[in-house]
Amino acid sequence: MTARILAAAPVVEQIKKDLIQRCESLKQQGHTPSMCVVLVGNNPASMSYIRNKKKMCEEIGAQFRLEHLDETISADEFLKKMETLNNDPSINGIIIQLPVSDELKNLALPNLVKPSKDIDGFHGMNTQNLYLGSTDLSLLLPCTPKGIVNLLKFYQVELKGKNVVVVGRSLIVGKPLSMLLSNFDATVTMAHSQTKNLRDLTRQADIVISAIGKAHFFDRSYFAPEKHTIVVDVGMNSLGGKLTGDVDQHDVMDVVRAITPVPGGVGPMTVVSLIQNLISATENQLKG
Ligand SMILES: NC(=O)c1ccc[n+]([C@@H]2O[C@H](COP(=O)([O-])OP(=O)(O)OC[C@H]3O[C@@H](n4cnc5c(N)ncnc54)[C@H](OP(=O)(O)O)[C@@H]3O)[C@@H](O)[C@H]2O)c1
Repeated sequence: MTARILAAAPVVEQIKKDLIQRCESLKQQGHTPSMCVVLVGNNPASMSYIRNKKKMCEEIGAQFRLEHLDETISADEFLKKMETLNNDPSINGIIIQLPVSDELKNLALPNLVKPSKDIDGFHGMNTQNLYLGSTDLSLLLPCTPKGIVNLLKFYQVELKGKNVVVVGRSLIVGKPLSMLLSNFDATVTMAHSQTKNLRDLTRQADIVISAIGKAHFFDRSYFAPEKHTIVVDVGMNSLGGKLTGDVDQHDVMDVVRAITPVPGGVGPMTVVSLIQNLISATENQLKG
């Protein structure tokens, strides 16, 4: 058995075609969708993520604006800036790029972007759709979970009744993803750093999704060949200067059924989900 590679490229291509059409139709109604990224300071990783977002906006015909704020901005000034952006009708979607400065990190950041412009899908009003059991992927849902489900759907991976182990319980990946998968009738175990016998859990799973941020943590011993496991690798780690996942893909290739690559897997799905959210947000704002 050699694992099938579940690449993002054909999925992104398909989604982009639809987004280009919807963007064009909004433009014909006199409204070009516009994304604003709020960046505080000069974190090099943030700069690189922002470049990807800008590029994807350009590719579908949306506008991109960077609000680059000084590291020294006070909490009061930041809140005022957010209010201005929230009330600016020429901006349809706003992202606060993390991390922010120490001065700002204790603000309730997810709720500072107004729900209708919250294209990261982190505002309580948007995440509550997950609690309520929604399977509507056109809602403003957190981008990485939405991208993963869209990728699994594209490759016709059944979720109903499947045992899924999600490793990681962060607010941006593990928690919302666990809830979304359970809405799609998967039986979800959310594991974390205090989980005992993680290997026993992953060896029993139909699908393993790793979001722990540890390069090559998962080797072949975590997978039972007879389970034909599908592996989704969310991790983005640097190993010897190269971008690499949480899973040692080379080591597991002959013991799992399919795996998402790093790079070229969950990362591009996350960016395209953000643009899906931007277009949906713009359409909803025009409907009023
Ligand atoms: N591809 C993408 O688009 C994308 C998007 C977002 C994030 N990421 C990447 O995904 C990774 C996770 O990101 P995040 O923001 O969710 O990270 P995070 O906030 O640091 O959370 C990591 C989670 O992993 C758990 N964990 C850490 N070590 C573990 C271990 N040895 N065994 C089991 N669980 C362990 C932690 O458990 P505790 O809760 O007990 O501490 C925590 O819940 C990072 O590499 C990040 O760069 C990629």
